[in-house]
Amino acid sequence: MRAAFASRFDDADPLAALTVGERPEPTPPADDWVTVELRATSLNHHDLWSLRGVGLTEAQLPMILGCDAVGLDPEGRPVVVYPVVVTPGDPRGVSILSEHFSGTLAERVAVPRSNLIPLPDGMAATDAACLPTAWLTAWRMLTTKGRVADADSVLVQGAGGGVATAAVALAVAMGKRVYATSRDAAKRDRISALGATAVEPGARLPERVDVVIETVGAATFDHSLKSAAPMARIVVSGATAGHEPSVNLRRVFAMQLEILGTSMGTPGELYELLAFCADNEVRPVVDSVIPFSRVEDAFARLHSGDAFGKVVIDHTA
Ligand SMILES: NC(=O)c1ccc[n+]([C@@H]2O[C@H](COP(=O)([O-])OP(=O)(O)OC[C@H]3O[C@@H](n4cnc5c(N)ncnc54)[C@H](OP(=O)(O)O)[C@@H]3O)[C@@H](O)[C@H]2O)c1
Repeated sequence: MRAAFASRFDDADPLAALTVGERPEPTPPADDWVTVELRATSLNHHDLWSLRGVGLTEAQLPMILGCDAVGLDPEGRPVVVYPVVVTPGDPRGVSILSEHFSGTLAERVAVPRSNLIPLPDGMAATDAACLPTAWLTAWRMLTTKGRVADADSVLVQGAGGGVATAAVALAVAMGKRVYATSRDAAKRDRISALGATAVEPGARLPERVDVVIETVGAATFDHSLKSAAPMARIVVSGATAGHEPSVNLRRVFAMQLEILGTSMGTPGELYELLAFCADNEVRPVVDSVIPFSRVEDAFARLHSGDAFGKVVIDHTA
């Protein structure tokens, strides 16, 4: 079957490590796994990290990339794939598709049957394919970790990204005052259109916020600390621009801040997210929908840094 996979690692030029070509059909490793016929997927920064060699070893190559998927189960029903799989031996106890088990950028993928969630009525496959990784991460950052129900205001850093646009759209839909930074003026205009107050990175906000959504890391972390209200939660799920920021501990203890790490979310949280989006007519922010036949273009778009929202791949085109 046709697939997009990491055939080697290239830290400086991750696109050069991407191969699109033939791979063997998936072989479910246990009786409770099934094969899903893929209909739509979306890219994540995770796929670029994998091509750079972050989180994978040479022994795991070639590795089919892709975490997100919507497809048809063996009975032909449309399903959303929850991408976290129990993985004995991994220090986290789990892994995300494309780490230990083949990913979704292929014609078919094998997953545990219990990882399949019915596609909500009326939701397009290309929209739902945005939800299981970036949107699920943003949902957990806001709800379980950030306890946004008790918050009035939220700051989202690097708001052009997949997780960040999700956090903006969800927090606005929840009725919060949302501030968002982006380095790019055009992206700031688009963030404003989502209902947030867009500012330049590092700009002083009109108020200190209760929840900060951090996926950028070193480039924005000091601003996150300075923008946090007393007792605020700074929730971190990524570090695109550096994972070793300097942290002013005086500010952490004096303002009684909580810095919380998080990854992905639970199946229950994915059900909650799907229901929230369906009930509130919230739809993912989609940068582009690109046919699977041009999957290399999709990677180039994500790598360019110009994308606003999710880069989606249509496997039916
Ligand atoms: N832990 C988890 O479960 C989990 C899940 C999903 C993602 N992640 C992580 O979260 C991060 C974002 O993922 P994503 O898929 O949303 O990535 P993405 O779509 O590529 O977004 C990255 C965003 O970060 C901002 N950024 C990049 N470099 C920056 C810099 N030097 N200074 C300021 N801002 C910068 C950009 O925002 P502007 O252009 O708007 O400034 C960019 O749009 C990645 O590191 C990813 O690995 C973690």
